[in-house]
Amino acid sequence: MNDLIYKAETTHALNIDELTALLDASEYDEALFAAADRVRKKYVGDAVHLRGLIEFSNICRCFCMYCGLRCENKNAERYRLTEDEIVETARKAAEAGYRTIVLQSGEDAWFSAERMSSVIRRVKAFDVAVTLSVGERPFEDYKAFKDAGADRYLLRIETSDKALYESVHPHMSFENRVRCLKDLKTLGYEVGTGCLVGLPHQTSRHLAKDILFFKEIEADMIGIGPYIPHPQTPLRNEKGGDLIQAVKVMALTRLLLPTINIPATTAMETLAPNGQAKALQSGANVIMPNVTDPSVRKKYEIYPGKTPANPAEDARKETIGKILSLGRTIGTGFGGRIKAHSG
Ligand code: 5AD
Repeated sequence: MNDLIYKAETTHALNIDELTALLDASEYDEALFAAADRVRKKYVGDAVHLRGLIEFSNICRCFCMYCGLRCENKNAERYRLTEDEIVETARKAAEAGYRTIVLQSGEDAWFSAERMSSVIRRVKAFDVAVTLSVGERPFEDYKAFKDAGADRYLLRIETSDKALYESVHPHMSFENRVRCLKDLKTLGYEVGTGCLVGLPHQTSRHLAKDILFFKEIEADMIGIGPYIPHPQTPLRNEKGGDLIQAVKVMALTRLLLPTINIPATTAMETLAPNGQAKALQSGANVIMPNVTDPSVRKKYEIYPGKTPANPAEDARKETIGKILSLGRTIGTGFGGRIKAHSG
């Protein structure tokens, strides 16, 4: 196993059997995390980039079996911020120092290409990078968003195994999800994808395949989180993912894609109070504090326990404190994917 870790650290290439073997072993986890931490330091440095996350609508047409925002969850209290509210939230975040604003929502058709483009144009006026995370759209919408100034797009593949994908995403197709990621690449976005760890019937081989998929699709950012069962979903009685396994998938992703951006995800922090710190020391170099107004924040309940209800300013201060205490620095600039290579 130590040879495999050494190979990953020096060549950034492992095959599916090697990745699976590392995911199945447990005695080498700390060595794996330390290797991912060194690769992170060597390629993307000590800076941690902060992104201000605005969850602007929890209205969603999808049926994802694991997600609390799924359209069949009648208990979810739905909200949709107005264009002015979104822009005002972004303005405050930019003023507080964020250089990237992430606009995330459920798949809410009210935000047509035109409406979305108007929001993007207004947010771009604050001299920030804009990341969108609004789901599957036709090529033309992605093009309109790009023309309006959007820089990056997040769309997790969730799982790269077609059968597993379709088992947890009724009325969706794996091919369309991949089509979206390819369209986004073609249009020149920095593309973020990622997966859930601990889905029912998911094996370590599936996860190994996910990591190879990230490489194949040439992702610029990868977000990985443990699956956390939500009581108002069909998968309420499932076991859910394990923090360490999620951090391992993340660490292996850093070893194989050394120059990408990797967030320490909120779902990791939800499972353990030091989850994000662990992630930052195992390959991650990004954190996305929530800057959504606390009055609606609790309603964006993708999974239970997600939302510390503290206001945006406190979340930012707390996050900065955590980063500095780990001996890291706060990223200045937009913190896009570094272009320089490689070694
Ligand atoms: N547990 C953890 N993550 C979840 N997501 C959705 N539902 C859950 C859950 N129950 C993740 C998905 C999605 C992202 C916005 O949130 O991976 O892409």
